[in-house]
Amino acid sequence: MHPKRKPIIAGNWKMNMTAVDAVDLVRKLSYSIVNVKDREIVVAPPFTSLAAVEEAIRDTNIALAAQNMHWVDKGAFTGEISADMLLDSGCKYVIIGHSERRQFFGETDETVNKKIKQALKKGLLPIMCVGETLAEREAGKLDEIISRQITGGLKEISADDMKKVVIAYEPVWAIGTGKTATPEQANEVHALIRGKVKSLYNADVAEGLRIQYGGSVTPENVSQLMAKPDIDGALVGGASLKPDSFAALVNFK
Ligand code: PGA
Repeated sequence: MHPKRKPIIAGNWKMNMTAVDAVDLVRKLSYSIVNVKDREIVVAPPFTSLAAVEEAIRDTNIALAAQNMHWVDKGAFTGEISADMLLDSGCKYVIIGHSERRQFFGETDETVNKKIKQALKKGLLPIMCVGETLAEREAGKLDEIISRQITGGLKEISADDMKKVVIAYEPVWAIGTGKTATPEQANEVHALIRGKVKSLYNADVAEGLRIQYGGSVTPENVSQLMAKPDIDGALVGGASLKPDSFAALVNFK
């Protein structure tokens, strides 16, 4: 964590919860974090709960994110969701390129890049996810994979636009497995990402960039992770599904 950068804690609810459950969770969460001003709090419910959650978090310190979107304005793309639809539902952020989308739904650096461009064009703030698999890490390809995902995902994004992007480093082997990267391991990759962004843009953009860590973050390990200089937040799946543990994440020391 760096004094210049406001920490951002986001809950990625993935394919969990009906609208009623989502509203219940966010209401309980909002009561326990009502006075938090020095960190940004974001929830990413499934599309079907966005409108209901938006209503429940109006006038709170919680912002809304979607988990994915399409890169085209509108048209014959059955089953897809556009940026305008997300804005219409009250979203401020959109998660792009989550590893589950890369693994199971054919997301590539190219589609990630198209989606980021579209989000920025429409005024949504992208949270771009990157991360290596265990096989890639063990084969010594960590730097190569992260650099490729960063360069590919951010292709043709201007420095001004880049100031609106959040990056989430999520090692695939740590997601939902209970195997968190150590704070040292995570910080090392965050520093690598910041260095890469500095070489693609400039020191100002790199220093302002917020990089979240994701992968089995819990109330027990969040403070050690957040103590590292290049870790500016967390993108949390499992531990964001209960109001008490989400509130504890937000209230990291
Ligand atoms: P997890 O998921 O916290 O359940 O590991 C993180 C994520 O996929 O964003």
